[in-house]
Amino acid sequence: MQASSAVFFIFGATGDLARRKLFPAIYSLYREGKLSDHFAVIGLARSQRTREQFREDVLSSIEEFCRYKPCDGKHEEWAEFVRHFEYKTLDINHIDGFRELNAFTEEVENEFSTPGNRLFYLALAPELFGRVSSHLTEGGLLESAGWHRLVIEKPFGYDLGSAKQLNEQIREVFREEEIYRIDHYLGKEMVQNIEVIRFGNAFFEPLWNNKHISNIQITLGETVGVEERGGYYDQAGALRDMGQNHMLQMLTMIAMEPPSRLVPEDIRDEKVKVLRSLRAFASSEDVSANVVRGQYTEGDVKGIHLPGYRQEDKVDPDSNTETYFAARVFVDNFRWAGVPFYIRTGKRLPVKTTEVVVEFKSMPNNVYLGQKYKLEPNLLVIRVNPMEGIYIKINAKKPGTDSEIEPLAMDFCQSCMIGINSPEAYERLIHDAAEGDSTYFTRWDEVATAWSFVDRIAAVWQEQPESLAYYPAGSWGPSAAHNLLEQDGHHWWPVN
Ligand code: BG6
Repeated sequence: MQASSAVFFIFGATGDLARRKLFPAIYSLYREGKLSDHFAVIGLARSQRTREQFREDVLSSIEEFCRYKPCDGKHEEWAEFVRHFEYKTLDINHIDGFRELNAFTEEVENEFSTPGNRLFYLALAPELFGRVSSHLTEGGLLESAGWHRLVIEKPFGYDLGSAKQLNEQIREVFREEEIYRIDHYLGKEMVQNIEVIRFGNAFFEPLWNNKHISNIQITLGETVGVEERGGYYDQAGALRDMGQNHMLQMLTMIAMEPPSRLVPEDIRDEKVKVLRSLRAFASSEDVSANVVRGQYTEGDVKGIHLPGYRQEDKVDPDSNTETYFAARVFVDNFRWAGVPFYIRTGKRLPVKTTEVVVEFKSMPNNVYLGQKYKLEPNLLVIRVNPMEGIYIKINAKKPGTDSEIEPLAMDFCQSCMIGINSPEAYERLIHDAAEGDSTYFTRWDEVATAWSFVDRIAAVWQEQPESLAYYPAGSWGPSAAHNLLEQDGHHWWPVN
């Protein structure tokens, strides 16, 4: 479906996010005919650039990061595309610049016949969101005839208090339904597929509860360290960087009840109910017993020596920030009572992977099979990244043997199919925002509830710096994370 005709304002247009994700996403949408012919992009940043220089930047970003290449015999198409890109130097502290921007936007709107719809994408540090929002309104940018939408990136605050403050600033200008808070994991193909797998298959939905599921494991593993983001990361840590948002969002998709209607508010209502049902850790002992935090030290990976976290650029050499956490959490509702959700994420792990493993309860050891065979539990594995697909592990007799069972994987690898070229998360999300579909954006009550859950953990960690465990770069995290499951008679299933 073609997105509505609009002007897209990219604040932070010379930054990393715009270069790696936003321009390539806009180009892919264009190539796939999902953008209206009547669109324009206005790049905004502090630095001086001419329109031509900006268009060159856009071209090189797309050449480097887009799944479509602009110059494979498509020069004319490229020229037509890039004609829609404008650039304005803007100091967001000065209201005059916003007034000029408004006048300029009206010219652009005339040229491309857009009906006054304006989408403001803030690829900026969150502390600037409030100022930009108020200058947008004071500068007259929200007075055009069409709709106005604000798209913002994480981190949405540092804790519940700061998130509330941020939210209040934005809400002075925009209504909740005009705010699109990005969690790019919700734009991933297989994360969106979770709903369909669950609610569209008679194989799964009847079993999707504590009567049949033994435990659920969610792994968000990364091989990279903190790269050039040490300054930000050292303040945030894994719990805030990945836990409060991506991890809990994935958990809600796995655990939510079917919505009564497939409309954004009903879906988000169900998600927020899961977050409210998360069992809050009652005491510091509770946190210590259920949550493990770790930091990577130096290590060798495939013959390459990697520095420890404390040696990374812009990281405090005595830093106590976690680059890994694992937790056992419970969703205290009728469906999930008693089923542990084991979640873990970390930097410098052996594999880049996002994967959900649903482990089913073992079959009763009945006389016929139990005595003869060693039965493994059935697994449903949802692979989100970098492989996309699902597989199911079942028990079957090993051919030619009498008493041996072989776990058999029935594998559907979506990304292996020839011609499958899944859209990037940002393509989906930009398109949805322009369409006014907020299903895969986080609503304020989700953000707030996730922060209250995470804040309790962070508060205990702050009082107990000695709770930090260490793991060498390239390993699967501190051993305590394995003990967490062993105590329950489980283990982390190896990821692929
Ligand atoms: C970001 C985090 O939100 O997600 C990064 O800030 C992390 O630290 C990234 O590397 C992971 O995203 P993906 O899509 O590569 O799994």
